[in-house]
Amino acid sequence: MKKIIIGSDHGGFVLKGIVCRYLKENGYEVEDAGTYSSDSCDYPVIAKQVAQKVSNGTYERGILICGTGLGMAITANKFRNVRAVTCTDTCSARMSRLHNDANILCLGERITGEYLAMDIVDIWLNTGFSGGRHQKRVDMIED
Ligand code: RB5
Repeated sequence: MKKIIIGSDHGGFVLKGIVCRYLKENGYEVEDAGTYSSDSCDYPVIAKQVAQKVSNGTYERGILICGTGLGMAITANKFRNVRAVTCTDTCSARMSRLHNDANILCLGERITGEYLAMDIVDIWLNTGFSGGRHQKRVDMIED
């Protein structure tokens, strides 16, 4: 079974619910790392929960949602082997998989509407990494 971990702060809480539903309907086993209410909380705490488990290989992919998708990506990219990208359009979502082998998708609930966000999620989850010359470049990130 495909499995994925997802998290949000209060700014991404509503969109997280929508994305979770989509994932489950599409056969994913989903770990929801919080937050579990719309009460204000600190995005780095949630980003750490998700990024650690992608970093150590527990999950191949994760999704993080905050108001803008920015703080989540900044935090997640502190972790080894994490390649987190904030996407606000479908082309970036596709290219982040093809060329960068992005393993965490960050979304901004206050930036991207629900329909576009779901297209971004769908494309990001279903696009493979090109490998080849891009593998060498991705390896260079960790070096
Ligand atoms: C919370 O108000 C907001 O700062 C947060 O959701 C996110 O946008 C940070 O990057």
